[in-house]
Amino acid sequence: MTTTITNNTTNTLRSAFLEYFGENGHRIVPSASLVPQNDPTLLFTNAGMVPFKNVFTGQETRPYTRATTAQKVVRAGGKHNDLDNVGYTARHLTFFEMMGNFSFGDYFKAEAIEFAWTLLTKSYGLPKEKLLATVYAEDEKAAELWRKIAGLPEEKIIRIATSDNFWRMGDTGPCGPCSEIFYDHGPEVFGGPPGSPDEGGDRFVEIWNLVFMQFFENPPGTRTPLPRPSIDTGMGLERFAAVMQGKRDVYDTDVLRSLIEAAANTLNTDPDGALRASHRVVADHLRSSAFLIADGVMPAKDGRGYVLRRIMRRAMRHLQRLGAREPVFYRLLPALIRQMGSAYPELVQHQALIAETMRGEEERFTALLERGMSLLEDETSRFGTGEALPGAVAFKLYDTFGFPLDLTQDALREQGQTVDVAGFEAAMAEQRTRARAAWVGSGDTAAETIWFDARDRFGPTEFLGYVSEKSDAEVQLVAHGNQEVAEAKAGESVAVLLNQTPFYGESGGQVGDHGTLTAPGLVVEITDTQKRNGDLLVHYGKIVEGVLHPGMSVTATVDHVRRQAVRGHHSATHLLHEAMRRQLGEHVAQKGSLNAPDRLRFDVSQPRPITAEELAEIEREVNARIRENSAVETRIMTPEAAVAEGAMALFGEKYGDEVRVVSMGNGGENRNAYSIELCGGTHVGRTGEIGPFRIVSEGGVSAGVRRIEAVCGLAADRLAAEAEERLTRMAGLLKATVAEAPDRLAALIEERRTLERQVSELQRRIATGEGSAATENVNGVTLAARDLGEVAPKELKGMAEAIAKQVGSGVVALVSSAEGKGSVVIAVTPDLSDRFNAVDLVRAASAAMGGKGGGGRPDMAQAGGPNPNAKVVFDMLRERLST
Ligand code: ALA
Repeated sequence: MTTTITNNTTNTLRSAFLEYFGENGHRIVPSASLVPQNDPTLLFTNAGMVPFKNVFTGQETRPYTRATTAQKVVRAGGKHNDLDNVGYTARHLTFFEMMGNFSFGDYFKAEAIEFAWTLLTKSYGLPKEKLLATVYAEDEKAAELWRKIAGLPEEKIIRIATSDNFWRMGDTGPCGPCSEIFYDHGPEVFGGPPGSPDEGGDRFVEIWNLVFMQFFENPPGTRTPLPRPSIDTGMGLERFAAVMQGKRDVYDTDVLRSLIEAAANTLNTDPDGALRASHRVVADHLRSSAFLIADGVMPAKDGRGYVLRRIMRRAMRHLQRLGAREPVFYRLLPALIRQMGSAYPELVQHQALIAETMRGEEERFTALLERGMSLLEDETSRFGTGEALPGAVAFKLYDTFGFPLDLTQDALREQGQTVDVAGFEAAMAEQRTRARAAWVGSGDTAAETIWFDARDRFGPTEFLGYVSEKSDAEVQLVAHGNQEVAEAKAGESVAVLLNQTPFYGESGGQVGDHGTLTAPGLVVEITDTQKRNGDLLVHYGKIVEGVLHPGMSVTATVDHVRRQAVRGHHSATHLLHEAMRRQLGEHVAQKGSLNAPDRLRFDVSQPRPITAEELAEIEREVNARIRENSAVETRIMTPEAAVAEGAMALFGEKYGDEVRVVSMGNGGENRNAYSIELCGGTHVGRTGEIGPFRIVSEGGVSAGVRRIEAVCGLAADRLAAEAEERLTRMAGLLKATVAEAPDRLAALIEERRTLERQVSELQRRIATGEGSAATENVNGVTLAARDLGEVAPKELKGMAEAIAKQVGSGVVALVSSAEGKGSVVIAVTPDLSDRFNAVDLVRAASAAMGGKGGGGRPDMAQAGGPNPNAKVVFDMLRERLST
């Protein structure tokens, strides 16, 4: 089945390609991220086959053996770097789309050539005589197929012996001979066929590369056959669109031209005038910037983020050349979304984030740009063409004005001048040396020296964990007991440094990630991740199996369940913070926090305890925001801009010139979001993922600081389950249903009170002898002496009174030994008051029990002593009464 296309727009050409291969049994796979997840050595996805690398080698299997994609590709930095050429040639782009069809051990050369030929000549309707093919010199089979399938004459099958026709993705990886299809613009254009001395001209353009994947190269130079011969093809959509649209320049094709015109309209410039190159740079860089941000890359000081920053700043300088005096870049985004938003919905989904990031970067850079450019002009006016800008000046532009080296080079290029790159690097190295000198002796422990050196050698670790939990990585350093080692074996504890990692290093209250580092035959269990020397992420763990050494490739996988729980608690903390401010007042400020998988702890300034009602209201509010299920957004901006937007900055925290701002929840009328905070942590995608939220406790930690402990998600479920379990057990003991239990319990408590009353009445009766006063006669005086055992001391007086009444005339002595202490009450009836004083007697009794003092009135007195001993007390009394 072959349909033909009805127009030549890029969107039509793209879908025709995918549909054609779809109809021919290929799975249409959406473009993978520009940040490769399966290759630590690659900065960006730089070919259509990158996401399938492990499928070719057999390491990974998919439920299909034929696939087709329109893959986003960035070639800026790393091995394939087209950044410097963009704007100055007709075909270089930092961002482009690579159309491809893939066979994983399914079909091979014959079908690949047949598919390509049919699509080009039938669906796209290209004239056969305009096409020619190259083959690898040794690949006679491919030449024969081109003759047979396409009917190409011998002079249109060009044998190339060089590496041009042997495709490699890098120094290592899948590779094989390839065959390239060229389009001939005709004799009126200068240029010769591939392999000829004039091949550099524009007459013959390569439109499609068919790679016959047969080998795996690793280490470099050693090739082993792949499990099964496979196919990888790549067609640069922009170049192909140029051919189809009758253009010789990719910047004249529909998508890029519309972006150029959008900028020209916004800035009121001539798109084809003297500043044509600037227009092209802006159009290309707009695409790479927007797509990189959509894939989670943020402008930063290093790594991928720095490449993005270089691209953005370069675009901004060209915008300035075009007359922009205020942020313009982000205003071009709608034009891009109109062109590419339907094929790449991520642009639409992240539109706000992309625009915000662009505008923020432009705002930050604009002032510096103007001052930097005038410095550069001053400097360059002092020396002539052919001379290089001193490295120290380039370094000052870099260090003080945020000019990436290539921006300076790009600016000088227009005047035919260059930069002394060696001098620039020397200045950079000198700065590092100064930093080191400043650091030495700063009091850090020797154990940390290893990480300081590592930072010097490797630069910062690239953190991928905002967008992924799994990534391949290269081992940079293995340490064992604070010593760098050449290898470590099973059973050993290690600290591991990787070039990039999805593992979050403990900071800002959020605990470090757990997970594994694996490779064939290797398993390292990671049980902590810490930040070292600022921006190194160090993984701590134990080797379970195998040998770990620097230079090897590992897959770093974060414990997803744990991370998800941490994320939930962290996002819940932000909602809690805002809910507390709204409930208790603006004085509530964060004093400390912990975001763990099983709980959160949040300390705030708050002068008085938070009441149960307030807590209930705060909890209700947080849960309401969670149920809103709004998207959590992250943006990069200056601290000032963040604060202006209402972001809560942490007191005493030092912020750099840019910050991450995390916002979530519906903000109502005057606010972008419910919660806006400066935060480097990882968060849920939507608030609903937090799950149920429960405050567990509230208490004081120090003067004016209260602590809330709370749980959410699984931990809250667990808490609820435990509570329910306890209730059920309680109801079981009460022999009631859970619903009946409270009433049953209240009844039991009432019953207990009644019983207590009865018990004390009974005790009173026992004490008074219930009428049969057990008394003795001592020298004519009646002595009623009773050891009451465990009877509570406060009961003694009442009992003594009752007994005194009963005896009529005499001395009453009651002793108890409740709680291990002796208590004594002595009563003397009024008729004996001239002979005996209760206070005197009770003092003597207290002394008998090892105590001191006692008091009361002459007729009734009470005392105690540490050693309860009724017998000694009574004997003492008998003696007193008998004298
Ligand atoms: N992987 C091949 C290329 O990028 C198709 O040219």
